[in-house]
Amino acid sequence: MVRINIDSKEVEANGESTLLELARKNGIEIPTLCHHQAVTPYGACRLCLVEIKKEDETKLVASCTYPVREDGITVLTQSPKVNRVRKMILEFLLARCPEVEIIQEMSAEMGIKQSRFILYDNDDCILCGLCARVCEEIIGKSAVSFTDRGPDRKVSTPFNEPSEECVGCTACAFVCPTGAIKVEEWDEIRFIEKWNTEIPLQKCAKCDMLYTPANTPGYILSKMQLPENLLRLCEKCRRKSVAESLSNYDVTSKNVIIKK
Ligand code: FES
Repeated sequence: MVRINIDSKEVEANGESTLLELARKNGIEIPTLCHHQAVTPYGACRLCLVEIKKEDETKLVASCTYPVREDGITVLTQSPKVNRVRKMILEFLLARCPEVEIIQEMSAEMGIKQSRFILYDNDDCILCGLCARVCEEIIGKSAVSFTDRGPDRKVSTPFNEPSEECVGCTACAFVCPTGAIKVEEWDEIRFIEKWNTEIPLQKCAKCDMLYTPANTPGYILSKMQLPENLLRLCEKCRRKSVAESLSNYDVTSKNVIIKK
């Protein structure tokens, strides 16, 4: 066990958590944009910076990637130094994404009315890479990734072409903190604007409602053993079908099912 102090609160860690996880577990909030508990931390946005002190040494670290392994450190999540740097990062983000609500809200909370910086290339993407991480680590695909360097750095499909890897699950849009990944559906197509990718939608085998990208059931079946006939149904028909099959049985307890 490791004992540390965060914002004057003594907390214990098992040596396996990051500073961010430990702080949140103990009710101490630290702002983040590029963190999601489902994927590996990457430390891109730097908003989760905190100040750590050990003896005479003090430094700023990204709490989402900092493992808590040392006994006796003191952590300040709101010190003047932390707030100064966090404010500057937010001003950069506000200059890059002036229309993004979450960044407007975070900036307002830090008392920023207007950014001192001017960027001429506005983009709602903050290059946090959450979309690429969720695609690779959770979905098991690599439809998008970081490309180029410096000011040209971006997240995109290979060669900016529609991605053949994309199954249209939109997990990328779900985790995107700024709403930079827009998804639209029309004419039996799901269109992911940022990836310039169109995926045909599939109809439910029972009610004909368009309910999923056509390549998703096949992909799920290749990864998990699930009844194929159920994956061909929309959620409503799937529930109905399961309820109908169960009506042929007496469910006597959680674990005992007897055929009528
Ligand atoms: S949340 Fe830690 S760097 Fe973004």
